[in-house]
Amino acid sequence: MYKIVRPLLFKLSKDPETVHHLALSFLKFAGILGISAILKSFTKVNEEILKQKVFGLEFINPLGLAGGFDKDAVSVLGLQALGFGFLEVGTITRYGQPGNPRPRIVRLLKDEALINRMGFNNKGADALANKLKAQSNLKIPIGISLGKSKITPLEQAAEDYLYSFEKLYNKGDYFVVNVSSPNTPGLRQLQNKNYLTDIFLALDNYRQKQSIRKPILVKIAPDLSFEAINEILEICQKYQINGIIATNTSLSRENLKEKVDEAGGLSGKPLKETSTKIIKYIHKQMSRLPIIGVGGVFTAQDAYEKIKAGASLVQIYTGFIYEGPLIVKKINRDLAKLLHRDGFKNISEAVGAETI
Ligand code: FNR
Repeated sequence: MYKIVRPLLFKLSKDPETVHHLALSFLKFAGILGISAILKSFTKVNEEILKQKVFGLEFINPLGLAGGFDKDAVSVLGLQALGFGFLEVGTITRYGQPGNPRPRIVRLLKDEALINRMGFNNKGADALANKLKAQSNLKIPIGISLGKSKITPLEQAAEDYLYSFEKLYNKGDYFVVNVSSPNTPGLRQLQNKNYLTDIFLALDNYRQKQSIRKPILVKIAPDLSFEAINEILEICQKYQINGIIATNTSLSRENLKEKVDEAGGLSGKPLKETSTKIIKYIHKQMSRLPIIGVGGVFTAQDAYEKIKAGASLVQIYTGFIYEGPLIVKKINRDLAKLLHRDGFKNISEAVGAETI
């Protein structure tokens, strides 16, 4: 069905962001009007084999929506009804900001990829805190991705992340330190030891004083060297960071069928192998650190490859745009079949199975 609608949707507007807003409005509508109950009956996959506990949270299935799709949490109930195991909202920043001028998303149809240079357009941490206050019907874990405001200098990044973390601490189940978007000038430098130490220290200090110690994850770029990853892993260990999200979009333009001259981060199929390679590397270095694998997942097989490489959970963004809302059910259903076929009793047994 979506395969028929998609060309129409893609043609509807030259700017993919217009279609994106349309989809968010539809999902918002689906959540509000209680259509979600009907939607759920179509999308539900209730498979024991997919259920697991990761960084202290219960997941009914391993497939999440990646950061950046619903930055201001306008459609979380509609998205939940599609069958996701968890959602990640944001990336939000301390100060609301408009992001870069449009157009800022480009479709590479032949490559089944996107290039985006959104620049953290969002309404800010306070607005998100208000929005999430009203979401008591959310039954799946919700992660909140935190970024640095464009106007905040790198040297004050830790305070900026801490402000959002404090504001949102009671509203999220886990938090992501996003230091890997290529679209905020200098942001990726925050992956360096000194900056990252300052951010982790500030957040870890705060959560230690709270009655519940919530998980903090860090999202990394696919363009890092293994040496740089090692350094990040060391700091993660020191501040008891609970997981890594690998990976964000790439600045590389290798292996593209289409020649493009567009600034921004590449996502979708061309990112798949690189992100899986990084997952495998991290899992080999630190097998106890949970990984959320993201990059180029379009099918259950793609998700399974990332799980066998070491990811406990998987997220999608570009695959969701290209394949449509039923991709969530399809991946979960087919993944359960793959796990049964290979004799696993639970998904957690398959995590890193390829690296053993
Ligand atoms: C993103 N991504 C992203 N990631 C993040 O942590 N915060 C964000 O705000 C955004 N924003 C964003 C906007 C758009 C338009 C795209 C396409 C992507 C990155 C995303 O979460 C994911 O890491 C990559 O897109 C790779 O996964 P896929 O798209 O190949 O499944």
